[in-house]
Amino acid sequence: MTGAKSGPRLVPAVGTDEGERPRLVSTTSTTTTPSRFGYASGLACRECGHTTELGAHHACTECFGPLEVTYDLPRLTRADIEAGPASIWRYASLLPVPPDVAATPNTEPGWTRLVRADHLARELGMRTLWVKDERGNPTHSFKDRVVAVALAAAVEMGFKVLACPSTGNLANAVAAAAARAGIRSVVFIPANLEPQKIIASEVYGGTLVAVDGSYDDVNRLASELADDREDWAFVNVNVRPYYAEGSKTIGYEIAEQLGWRLPSQIVVPVASGAQLVKIDKAFREFIALGLVEDTPFRVFGAQATGCSPVAAAFRQGHDVVQPVKPATIAKSLAIGNPADGPYVLDVVRRTGGVVADVDDDAVISAMRLLATTEGIFGETAVGVTLGVLRSLLATGQIDPAAETVIINSGDGLKTLDAVAGPPGSLSVIRPSLAAFEAFEASLPGNAAS
Ligand SMILES: Cc1ncc(COP(=O)(O)O)c(C=O)c1O
Ligand SMILES: [Zn+2]
Repeated sequence: MTGAKSGPRLVPAVGTDEGERPRLVSTTSTTTTPSRFGYASGLACRECGHTTELGAHHACTECFGPLEVTYDLPRLTRADIEAGPASIWRYASLLPVPPDVAATPNTEPGWTRLVRADHLARELGMRTLWVKDERGNPTHSFKDRVVAVALAAAVEMGFKVLACPSTGNLANAVAAAAARAGIRSVVFIPANLEPQKIIASEVYGGTLVAVDGSYDDVNRLASELADDREDWAFVNVNVRPYYAEGSKTIGYEIAEQLGWRLPSQIVVPVASGAQLVKIDKAFREFIALGLVEDTPFRVFGAQATGCSPVAAAFRQGHDVVQPVKPATIAKSLAIGNPADGPYVLDVVRRTGGVVADVDDDAVISAMRLLATTEGIFGETAVGVTLGVLRSLLATGQIDPAAETVIINSGDGLKTLDAVAGPPGSLSVIRPSLAAFEAFEASLPGNAAS
């Protein structure tokens, strides 16, 4: 990519979202030249629009609102992107990373499968349904995307340690990415996480800190430490504006994999809410760049009933999200005080979607449904996402005839207990034909055969 091209500039425009918050829109700009943060041009406050220069800032100096990356984008063609690597770095010029980011050792996440789910669609009475299968990432969740972007930006800013508070998947991704980059990692998790997620963090050799408390307690501790440890990049705290941009690549890939067009409906799991907000941003950027047609899309958010502060605010018509104490098997989504909650409400209301929740039994049932219909064993988070899709269909809040994408954000092998049978429920046979025939005859519906 050279600096000779010019294109739309994404800048804040006041009063375009619910509650008069600024929303990034595109305008035309003059010639741009990539810097060490690519075509990123600055940081803008998501509350008041105040802008500041790129660097290790995450809160507005005027109002303490969260900051977001703005760009001075080059004119990009579909062919430019298609010529790139089969990873998130095909979209490097739309991310706050150096232009040569793909050349330094990294986990190369992204370019995961978009699976056409015809069996599941038939089961649900839908016409066209796709599953974006994030198990294909290096540590089996979408978190590898956000971490790769945060790491690249953090290295540019001179940070020496990669850290995070995590509900599990992020800890896996940070520990792996730091190992690959040859830097130290320190990950903080609630001590009661799934054993698979703890082991899959510890194995990479960084420092694992198990905290006696909820994710929100862990997050508070990380925020205090981020102020204290100057060369520690907490990916989702003090470098959060860069980290969050990584989730845009899910939206870019969906549009490209659909043949350069947007789906009509998308259902996204919500913990902090960053993934949902950034998928919407990705779709709007592709429209602004002329890479896809400006067709309407509705964004739906999914939460577990045991941790549903955003769904509750949506139902009650509130703009403010009231924190809750989580109690759900969907531990990856158990954030009681979601940083992006108000922005999820903005996106969902603007696009005509819904934020809804389902209980843990519905989560388990949906995990099994995805596995049995499409051969995809997703984690509890997809149980929430598919569970909410089923519930929205049952209540007529989503259109079964409109093309729909759901996100499978993580791997069922990390949340085995959710679908494990009780101890001793596995029937074991002797290695003989007679034993097998007796076993076969005992199967439900097979007694007569
Ligand atoms: C598997 C999985 N899905 C979804 C999410 C939600 O992501 P966000 O915090 O961006 O809403 C998480 C967050 O930890 C996760 O681990
Ligand atoms: Zn501000």
